[in-house]
Amino acid sequence: MTLMVVGGGGREHAIIKKLKENREAEKIYALPGNGGIAADAECVPINAKDIEAVADFAVSHGVDYAVVAPDDPLVLGAVDLLESRGIPCFGPVSAAAAIEGSKVFAKNLMKKYGIPTAAFETFDDMDSALAYLKTAPVPTVVKADGLALGKGVIIAATRDEAEAAVRYMMADHAFGKSGDRIVIEEYLEGPEVSVLAFTDGKCIKPMVSSMDHKRALDGDLGPNTGGMGTVAPNPYYTDEAARRCMDEIFLPTVAAMNAEGRTFKGCLYFGLMITKDGPKVIEYNCRFGDPETQVVLPLMRSDLLTVMRAVTEGRLAETPVEFYGGSACCVVMASSGYPKKYDKGFPIDVPADVLPYVFFAGAAAGKDSLVTSGGRVLGVVDVAPTLAGAVSGAYAKAGRISFANAYYRKDIGRRALLASRNAAASPACSGPVTGSARECGSGREV
Ligand code: AMP
Ligand code: GLY
Repeated sequence: MTLMVVGGGGREHAIIKKLKENREAEKIYALPGNGGIAADAECVPINAKDIEAVADFAVSHGVDYAVVAPDDPLVLGAVDLLESRGIPCFGPVSAAAAIEGSKVFAKNLMKKYGIPTAAFETFDDMDSALAYLKTAPVPTVVKADGLALGKGVIIAATRDEAEAAVRYMMADHAFGKSGDRIVIEEYLEGPEVSVLAFTDGKCIKPMVSSMDHKRALDGDLGPNTGGMGTVAPNPYYTDEAARRCMDEIFLPTVAAMNAEGRTFKGCLYFGLMITKDGPKVIEYNCRFGDPETQVVLPLMRSDLLTVMRAVTEGRLAETPVEFYGGSACCVVMASSGYPKKYDKGFPIDVPADVLPYVFFAGAAAGKDSLVTSGGRVLGVVDVAPTLAGAVSGAYAKAGRISFANAYYRKDIGRRALLASRNAAASPACSGPVTGSARECGSGREV
C-alpha cells in the first residue's frame, strides 16, 4: 500500500514509525514531513494547509490511504476533499473537526448534552464581554473561539488581567479572526489528563492516558508552549476516573456529535481536568495530541494501520486496540528561547544508538547533518516497565544528544512520579511492559 501522512512534526514522526510496523505499508509519503522524518518516509514539500495541493498529490501518486494529523487541514476540510476524490482517510470531516475548530461550538455542544465542563459565557462583541467581567468571579479564563496554535487561552488572575485579555483578542486581533468570538469560563482546579481515543462514531476505544507538560520552565512556570514533554499512563487517571469519563464524557460526546449530524471518525482528544466534582472537559481536539502521541503510540501493542482502517470502515467494535502495561516518557528538546524568539540552523548530533528513540519536529536537512529549524526540535522517548525507568531512560538519552542552544525541562514526569507514589489506586493500564496486554478500559458502543 501507498500511504500519505499529512503534517510534519514529532507527532507525525511517531505515527509514521508506528505505521511502518505493518508490512503492507510499502511506501509512505509525508507532506511536508521534516529532515528527520526523511529517514522513515519520502518527504514532499507541500504545506499541510494547502489541501487542494495535498489532494492533487494523493491522486497523482496513487495514495491508497491517507492520515491527516494536524488540526488546520482537518478543520479546512482535507478529509472531505480527499474522500471526494476517492481516497480513504483517517481523520474527521470538517463538520466534525469543529469540535476543536470552534470553542464556542464545543462549549455549546457540552451544555446541550450535559457533558461536564467549566461554566461559560460566549461573546461576539467586546463591550458585552467587558460588562460581564465587571461581576465575573476571578480567576477566570478567556479563550479565543478559533484555532490559535495552542496560544488562544489566557488564565486571568484579576479582573484587570481578564479585561486586558479580552482587548488583546477582540481589539488588537492578536489571534486574527480566531478572536472575533470569545469564551469566558470558570477557572477549574485539579490535575490534567489527556486521553486520545479511536472512534468510528459507533464505538469508542480510549488509548492509554497521558500527561502533558505545557509550560516552558521547570515547576510548570513560564509561558505556555505546544508541550515540553509527556508521560503515559497518567497516574491521576485511575480506574474510577476512567469509568466516569467513559460514562459521563466519552460516550455522550460521540452520541452528541451523531445527534448533531457531525459523526466524528478518527482520533478524538479529550483534555480533561480531574476536579473535586469529578472529571470535566477542558478542551477537545480533533486529532492526536503532540507530544502525547510520542508516548502513547510506543505503548500500543495493536497494529496502528489496522486500527485506523477499521475506524475509516466503521469496524472499530470488532477490532482489538491493546496497549502494553509499561510506561513511556518523552522529553522535548527545544531551541533556547522557545516559545518566543530563538535562533536556528545549528547541527544536531544524535548518536546512532539513540536515534531509534527520537521523533523529530523542528529539524531540517543541512549540509552534513540535520540542523535545527524550529522551536521544538525533537522528542526523545523511552519505554520501561516503570514510570521511573522511562523517565530516567529518556533523560539519559537526551543527555547524549547535542545541538547549540538546546533547552529542555529537567522535571518531566516528576509530578506523575510523586502522584503514583501517593496513589491509592493504580492507574488504568498499569503493569509490566512485557506482561499481558490489555485494553484501556475496554471500548464501548454508543
Ligand atoms: P487549552 O488550549 O484549552 O488546552 O488550554 C490551555 C491550558 O489552559 C490547559 O491545558 C489548562 O492548563 C488551562 N485551562 C484551560 N481552561 C481552563 C479552565 N477552565 N480552568 C483552569 N485552567 C484552564
Ligand atoms: N499537547 C496538546 C495538544 O496537542 O493540543
